[in-house]
Amino acid sequence: MDKFIIKGGFPLKGKLRVNGAKNATLPILAACLLTEGKSHLENVPCLTDIVTMCRVLEELGVKAERENKTVEVDSASLACWETPYDLVKLMRASILVLGPLLARCRRARVSLPGGCNIGARPVDLHLEGLRQLGASIEVRNGYIEARVKKNLQGANVYLDVPSVGATENIMFAATLAKGTTLIKNPSCDPEVIDVANFLKKMGAHIEGEGTDMLRIDGVKELFPASHSVIPDRIEAGTLLMAAVITKGEVILERISPDYLRIILDKLRQMGAEVDVDNYTVRVKGGDVLKPIGVKTLPYPGFSTDLQPQITTVVCLAEGTSTITETIFESRFTHIAGLKKMGAQIRREKAKVEVNGVSSLRRASVTAPDIRGGAALVLAGLAAEGMSEVKEINHVDRGYEKLEEKLSKLGARIERMRD
Ligand code: EPZ
Repeated sequence: MDKFIIKGGFPLKGKLRVNGAKNATLPILAACLLTEGKSHLENVPCLTDIVTMCRVLEELGVKAERENKTVEVDSASLACWETPYDLVKLMRASILVLGPLLARCRRARVSLPGGCNIGARPVDLHLEGLRQLGASIEVRNGYIEARVKKNLQGANVYLDVPSVGATENIMFAATLAKGTTLIKNPSCDPEVIDVANFLKKMGAHIEGEGTDMLRIDGVKELFPASHSVIPDRIEAGTLLMAAVITKGEVILERISPDYLRIILDKLRQMGAEVDVDNYTVRVKGGDVLKPIGVKTLPYPGFSTDLQPQITTVVCLAEGTSTITETIFESRFTHIAGLKKMGAQIRREKAKVEVNGVSSLRRASVTAPDIRGGAALVLAGLAAEGMSEVKEINHVDRGYEKLEEKLSKLGARIERMRD
């Protein structure tokens, strides 16, 4: 296991390019199963989750060759429809092969992804939606056993929750179903829109992505495509918050400010200077951080994937902030580490109250998961003295060479073997 050693107190300054989005790349890799032949992906981030998804594809007999920021997926050799537990337990997003396998092979056997430390994370909406498209699905001995007698049939699917993964799995299956599928209350995340754009390049007939109703008209066949993945708005938001918490000034290139609207509004409310033009964002941290209220919501609301990070920033605000997490019931794994660094945080169910302190103190903390780990790194950047964040493998799942990016901006951070 690696750890980061961070000497806090250095304002971040400089310009960075944002990597491709992890949460667009993972479903797009799964979508490559919908066709035979070679699909070509660009701007793919170098993350352990991407390596894991490529392993899932290879377990299915598919070739997935990564080179720098490109991945070539040749799914002509798809030979199996089973995804084993040891891969699914590494990464829940492995379940995104379920829809494509049903559409391509008419059967699938995928291990049930367990919950994780941010919540139970059920998959009932995935399974119910696929059943409505004609799949018979049973859960037996920890595996999802799915099959289709003849063809998947288009249907009207209503999602109780605008689930990102369920929207993607049902959309995958619907692209090759007979007839039309309407998905009501789908996820409107930019990453889901990017997946829809990739599917349309493959020949899928999809309308309404980013709205409250997705229409998919099934086609007979899909074809390999080339695609450059959209920039990662969560990485972008994390780096901009690092600028604010260290009272620095950071410019991010190749990121659409549209993806970050709410986050930028919140940073302005805290007293940061924010300038945007069509594909660049500049944020300069103010000398004083004002307290704010934040409530996570499905896109375009404040992303749950940036909640741990903004919770860290408000630890240094002058006053009391409230953060309400409405997406994942246990997404508070970062609080223990923040308290160890002197933060004053009180949790009541889905809400935390943060009384700002003048400074955070150095400590040795452990990354609990991807975004909780990123939050503790931000705390280390602001804390006085030397802190360490252990089990950084969690952060590596969602951030490419984070320590190199932060060092380029003037942070004193290094990776060490723990
Ligand atoms: C995706 O996870 C992202 N992962 C998550 O990012 C992100 O936090 C999440 O969407 C919410 O935006 C990827 O895209 C790979 P959901 P997903 O289904 O699809 C409930 C990160 O850090 N739900 O949108 O698993 C669920 O319990 C990760 O990059 C059901 O009830 O999330 C949750 O409360 C973490 N039944 C809510 O919906 C279901 O069948 C949103 O979950 C599915 C979900």
